[in-house]
Amino acid sequence: NCKINNLINSKTKLLGVIGHPIAHSLSPIMHNSVIFQNKTNNLNKENISQDINTIEKLKELKDLEKNTIDNLNYIYLAFDIEPENLENIVISAKTLNIKGLNITVPYKIDIMQYLDEIDEDAKKIGAVNTILFENGISKGYNTDGLGFRKAIEELMEIKDNKTNNNKTNKSTKNNKILVLGAGGASRSICYEMSKDNAITIANRTFEKAETLEKYLKSIGHKNVNSIKLEEFEDMTKLMDYNIIINTTSLGMYPNIDNTFIDLSKLPENALNGKFVVDIIYNPFETKFLKQASEKGATIQNGLSMLIHQGAISFEIWTNEKPNIDIMKKSIVNELE
Ligand code: ATR
Repeated sequence: NCKINNLINSKTKLLGVIGHPIAHSLSPIMHNSVIFQNKTNNLNKENISQDINTIEKLKELKDLEKNTIDNLNYIYLAFDIEPENLENIVISAKTLNIKGLNITVPYKIDIMQYLDEIDEDAKKIGAVNTILFENGISKGYNTDGLGFRKAIEELMEIKDNKTNNNKTNKSTKNNKILVLGAGGASRSICYEMSKDNAITIANRTFEKAETLEKYLKSIGHKNVNSIKLEEFEDMTKLMDYNIIINTTSLGMYPNIDNTFIDLSKLPENALNGKFVVDIIYNPFETKFLKQASEKGATIQNGLSMLIHQGAISFEIWTNEKPNIDIMKKSIVNELE
């Protein structure tokens, strides 16, 4: 009895993602699953509250009330935009009263010139992945870096629960982090994490790592340096870090045999107590992650960052925290 007028009606606000290409974006599924699960919960709530005859029903109702947001009337669509139409997007979005947009490859930098305001972090990262439209004003944000921080917070807490070790460093501060890659994704991760950690950047094109290092230092993030790839020929160098992050596209489908550093050469248990993250999620487990896990590291793929950057965008648009588990399940279902 899912009534259509409860799903989409004249008050439904539009959210979306803009990119080129966009057909494979997981964002519509992730956001719509939260929105529609919430709508379903509201319907169930209505039905149950009209007919409470057992303690179980009452419990069910209380549960639904706790996990349901009253007014979350949105829908999220994907738009494939040709480069020459980018400028029109902001005007069109205002005209149509669109509430929020995600911006993805290749427009995260180019879109900035057309926005009315840009949040401080996004300005410093130099890219926007989220726009909020409010009172006719467009404001750009970047949730990638913070999404990454939330993901690694989650990873460290998982580790903490598993080992029951209260001494695990639960905050994401004061770590020694090695970031592999110096492209767009690396930039937002390095920006966020170098606020309160020591960061080392390694990249195939060393000059790009150096440029990123210099930039971050110029905005006051002092604890950053860059390192030449050759230095990792001596694998003991890796032992200097407690978090290692692959931000390059190496190992992404279909080139799944590529890895940045061959971790299989390390001795047994060499990565015990370390966290190794890959921002790739296709395949679920890259060769790099598999090798890291075999040497004892606690690993995480790119799904967590994807979900958390989306969750932060969702909150910017709706002022509500989305249900992370529902977002996660929807994507895992889609990828399986
Ligand atoms: P993204 O936005 O996903 O970060 P990007 O900006 O194109 O994408 O950056 C890609 C990163 O992967 C870069 O660090 C790139 O290294 P270079 O700066 O030397 O190009 C890295 N990368 C891509 N292919 C690579 C390869 N075959 N070997 C090593 N690094 C590679």
